[in-house]
Amino acid sequence: MREREAGEITVQSAWRALRRRIRVVLICLVLCPAAAIAFSLLQMKEYSATASLLFRDPQFDQQVFGSSYVESYKDPTREAATNVELVSLDEVADKTAKRVRRGFTGKSVLDAVEIKPEGQSDVVSLTATSRSPQLAAKLARAFAGEFVRFRRDADRAKIREAQALVRRDIRRSRGTPGSRRSLSERLDQLGVLASLQTGNAEVVQQPEVPREASSPKPVRNGGLGPILGGLFGVAIALLLDRLDRRLRDPSEIEELLERPILAALPESRALQNPGPGLAALPEHEQEAFRMLRANLRYFSLSREIRSVLVTSATSGDGKSTVAWGLGFAAASAGSRVLVIEADLRHPVLRARYGLRRAGGLTSVLTGELSLATAISHVALRPSTSTDRGPDYTMDVLPAGPLPPNPTDLIESQPMAEIVGQAESEYDLVVIDTPPTSVVSDAIPLVVMVGGVIVVARIGKTTRQTFLKLQSQLANIGAPVLGAVANSLDRGTEDEYGYGYGYGHRNGRAGEPALSRQPVVGR
Ligand SMILES: Nc1ncnc2c1ncn2[C@@H]1O[C@H](COP(=O)(O)OP(=O)(O)OP(=O)(O)O)[C@@H](O)[C@H]1O
Ligand SMILES: [Mg+2]
Repeated sequence: MREREAGEITVQSAWRALRRRIRVVLICLVLCPAAAIAFSLLQMKEYSATASLLFRDPQFDQQVFGSSYVESYKDPTREAATNVELVSLDEVADKTAKRVRRGFTGKSVLDAVEIKPEGQSDVVSLTATSRSPQLAAKLARAFAGEFVRFRRDADRAKIREAQALVRRDIRRSRGTPGSRRSLSERLDQLGVLASLQTGNAEVVQQPEVPREASSPKPVRNGGLGPILGGLFGVAIALLLDRLDRRLRDPSEIEELLERPILAALPESRALQNPGPGLAALPEHEQEAFRMLRANLRYFSLSREIRSVLVTSATSGDGKSTVAWGLGFAAASAGSRVLVIEADLRHPVLRARYGLRRAGGLTSVLTGELSLATAISHVALRPSTSTDRGPDYTMDVLPAGPLPPNPTDLIESQPMAEIVGQAESEYDLVVIDTPPTSVVSDAIPLVVMVGGVIVVARIGKTTRQTFLKLQSQLANIGAPVLGAVANSLDRGTEDEYGYGYGYGHRNGRAGEPALSRQPVVGR
């Protein structure tokens, strides 16, 4: 048995989940780009105009004159960040608002303007966004201009402060001509420096009136849509699969039942309307039934199993299909087989496989007919004229007329006697039962048989109902042999098909294939 932690997501299980939910992924792939384009088209158009400001090294002027009144930064990243901070000054925004007017305030200017450093250079870009392209350009130009003015005025103010300090020093140093001379020289230098001040910032690129809207961008958004849609679809698909409580994997069945998978039956059109002639089934499906039968023989090595009961949690899981297929595989291999339909509420074998003989199990239970007379013989004839194999038969005891008290009949002593008699006359007795979540008819039968096979239909049976059945069977000490995983999809089946239980890829050596045509109702 493969060991796998419950709830663990492996690449394979995620891949299978995506394949199961491929429709969700595809819908997201289509809807997300469409929604992105629609949203973009509904949005108001906005235009952006950008001015570039160059911050010059303030040290240059000062180094020329040996002045050190202005702080300088060496780290370019820090300097760029500082430049952005400087540009964001509220005062500049207020002045810009006054210059542009049009109802702008300092705050709304700052909201409309984005300032960011261009890499680690001394250049800062200043982008103004507005619904009008002209206004965007005007705003960017005004902001840039106001900033340069602000910087120049601030730097000149600093130098004027320095000049005032020097003048004060000159006044105080009366009587020492040497020092007065040097201070006067310094005052002159500061004067020249003040005239040189440009604020160390200049507009290197004036904003142009934008011709195209900066947002929305339907083409870009639509282009990103498939990528985001794909990611979103994958996430939704995996989430839905996690929330889905239906059995998805044979390994889950093994974990919950704590028994091996005896056979994995693919979901197949041929099994939807099987007809009595399983010979028409594709090789895959035939192989699954052969494997089930072969695996039962392994259990018989330790104790002889002459009767098996096929049960499942819910209706339509495939009990009757599996019971018939198992009987057919065993009979085709030469075993004497009786299939008993103990589903007295929703019998299908007579109609589905065209059995003609009247009566059935209920007729025998009420003493109306003997077992021998109620049984239909399905002859398995060679399917082709070249097949010279022997003619085998499979015996079937269909449910018969529906009784008002099915549970009483199933629990009755005659039923136990029928099973006992059948076990003595046949190599294998297969009992088909109703679903346990609907009625508990199968439960009393469980203790009458040599082994129990649990069928679970992938993508249909829920973990909850399956667990309930498992605990029901465990509580009464049912001889559960293993499970049949029904309706695997092709991918999963290729992965699991032959890897389970004690199965062999090519069936039992020497056994004939199921390629025999039945002659029913004899
Ligand atoms: N692997 C399969 N692929 C396709 N169809 C399937 C498969 N297994 C079963 N079916 C179909 O599903 C239907 C239900 O199957 P079946 O009658 O065997 O289930 P059940 O468990 O006996 O149901 P109920 O509990 O009602 O007796 C049938 O029409 C059958 O042909
Ligand atoms: Mg059935």
